[in-house]
Amino acid sequence: MSNYVDVMRADDIAEGEMREIEVEDHALLVTRVEGAVYITDARCPHLHAHLAKGTLEGTVLTCPWHGSQFDVRDGRVLRWTEFEGVVKTVAQMARHPRPLRVYESHVEDGMIRVGEEKAPIRE
Ligand code: FES
Repeated sequence: MSNYVDVMRADDIAEGEMREIEVEDHALLVTRVEGAVYITDARCPHLHAHLAKGTLEGTVLTCPWHGSQFDVRDGRVLRWTEFEGVVKTVAQMARHPRPLRVYESHVEDGMIRVGEEKAPIRE
């Protein structure tokens, strides 16, 4: 996505809501938190669950399958699965924690627009 692309009307997403949309064959998740709009990948970086079926509490997005949590503002991993003990260790060795991809976005003329992927966060 080299330029900004219209994805949906800003009025069509309410506070605390999540919407999965398709843009140029790419599944994206639009969220609105405290009036701000954030756009991330729609699939979990763990094993590709549909994140729109998870929960959003403030900016914390929780995956419906294994409970990984991400901050929708920057994609930061807050929790990598809800496994514990040796199961968690093995799961992390099999698939190490990785952030959720986040995209530039803004509202223009009442439309939410998506742009390039933001630079990955460094922890
Ligand atoms: S698929 Fe999301 S935590 Fe496993």
